[in-house]
Amino acid sequence: MFKKTPIAAVVAATASLMLFAAGCTATGSDKTASAAAPAKVDYTKMTPQALAEYIVMESGSYDLAQPTQEGTTGKARLAQDEIQKICSAVALSGKEIDAKTADKVAALAQPTIKYPEGGIKLGDWKKGRELAWSGFGFRTAHNPDDHTRGPAGGNCYNCHQLATDRTGGNLGPSLTGYGKIRGNSPEMLKYTYEVIYNPHAYFACTSMPRIGANGVMTQQQIADIMAYLFDPESPVNK
Ligand code: HEC
Repeated sequence: MFKKTPIAAVVAATASLMLFAAGCTATGSDKTASAAAPAKVDYTKMTPQALAEYIVMESGSYDLAQPTQEGTTGKARLAQDEIQKICSAVALSGKEIDAKTADKVAALAQPTIKYPEGGIKLGDWKKGRELAWSGFGFRTAHNPDDHTRGPAGGNCYNCHQLATDRTGGNLGPSLTGYGKIRGNSPEMLKYTYEVIYNPHAYFACTSMPRIGANGVMTQQQIADIMAYLFDPESPVNK
């Protein structure tokens, strides 16, 4: 796990809204942005928060007008929702989240979780593997992802080790052997579905994205990812 600095934490909170931090736009060719940028700014006199705010909102390095795949603009992506506002305040305080705030975040997250009709079932682990591997989707800036080319992925390997046939990240815990270790009781399926749908219901102010609640994946795609975690035939459990 990495130690969060306030700025890194704010950036992480913003990035989790989008699932993927947008890449830098090529400002050199963006005449309007540079023309609109203020002439001289004394970075040394800014607080870290003010500097972060300036870089994102005013320096022209991020195209606020760019269209996004969900039909909004770059600027709309930067607006924090209730959970993100609370979590940014916690991050800026430099302290661990207290129990009362964690309960508040969980209470905001819980009602966002929508369950499949007919109950939580496992889908196709092979499709789930593709989705767990893929970081495609919702990226904007210089090379926006074209969603007509395929579904958005879950980017799970960016943060988790899952099957051992591929290297995963360590921002999140290892999920290797997930189904083998935990079994597939209805409670375990429900817990896992909820964590993938909106992890703040269990881990307030986590850096894990809200895959279901933010519309990154459908219920069927979550079922496929869950099969990848639980199916005894899945490489995760081999
Ligand atoms: C940006 C990093 C990130 C991404 C991407 C991510 N996770 Fe997580 N995940 C975490 C972190 C961090 C935790 C631990 C919760 C905490 O303490 O914040 C976690 C926790 C979990 C847990 C609970 C683990 C347990 O021990 O009960 C599951 C299950 C999980 N993630 C599955 C997934 C799946 C499936 C995907 C892809 C669809 C995914 N995660 C994508 C960061 C991430």
